[in-house]
Amino acid sequence: MKSIKICIGSACHIKGSYEVIEIFKEEIDKYKLGDKIELCASFCLGKCRDAVSVMRWDDIVFSVSKENARQIFEAEFMPYI
Ligand code: FES
Repeated sequence: MKSIKICIGSACHIKGSYEVIEIFKEEIDKYKLGDKIELCASFCLGKCRDAVSVMRWDDIVFSVSKENARQIFEAEFMPYI
């Protein structure tokens, strides 16, 4: 099981952590990845300026918004599962 950490610290929360979590959940359902990926809420990942910060299982942090969340999930997460 691979973990994706989505920051819910204050900067990321304000910039839409909740929406990003919902979009990632939809993507996981859509591609039936529920047995391969888990989503975890995380405290500040130290990259508040890039909010919403999302950390992949190999510790790379992506700057995600609700506008680009689907695209980032499909380009940066799905190919590496
Ligand atoms: S609050 Fe999300 S990286 Fe700091």
